[in-house]
Amino acid sequence: MPKVSDSALRRLEKCARSASARAYAPYSRFPVGAAVLGGSGKVYAGCNVENASYGLCNCAERTAIFSAVAAGERSIRAVTVYTPTPLPTAPCGACRQVIHEFGPDALVISVCDAKNRVETRLPALLPGAFGPGDLA
Ligand code: THU
Repeated sequence: MPKVSDSALRRLEKCARSASARAYAPYSRFPVGAAVLGGSGKVYAGCNVENASYGLCNCAERTAIFSAVAAGERSIRAVTVYTPTPLPTAPCGACRQVIHEFGPDALVISVCDAKNRVETRLPALLPGAFGPGDLA
C-alpha cells in the first residue's frame, strides 16, 4: 500500500472541515465532517445526518464511505474526521467496522478545533476485527 502523500492528507483535512458545515445535526448540535481517500485517489466528503428517530442517525465517516462506494470505489486508503472539539476524537465503533470493510489498513486521522491531531491505522482502533475474510 503506497504512502498517502502529504498533499492528499491536506486535501482530506480541508474537505472534512468544510463538510461539517453541511451536517444535519439538530438533535446533538454536534456537526461532524469526514473525508475519505478512495483507492482511485479521489476524495469523498461526508457529514453526520441525524433523524427525529434518533437511532437512525448516520455518522459523518459512514456518509463519506457510502458516497465513495456509491461512486464506484471498493477500497479506502485514508479517512479524516473533524469534530468541533478542543481535542481530536476517534471514530465510533460502528464506523470502525465500516472502515474495516473497505480499508482494513486505512490511515485514520482525527482533527479538531485545536492543532492537536491523532494519526493512526485501523488495526489499532479495531484489533481482531471481523471482516469479509471470516465469512465461509
Ligand atoms: N458522530 C459522527 O458523525 N462521527 C463521529 O466520529 C462521532 C459521532 C455524530 C453522530 C451524531 O450525529 C453526533 O455526532 C453525536 O454523537
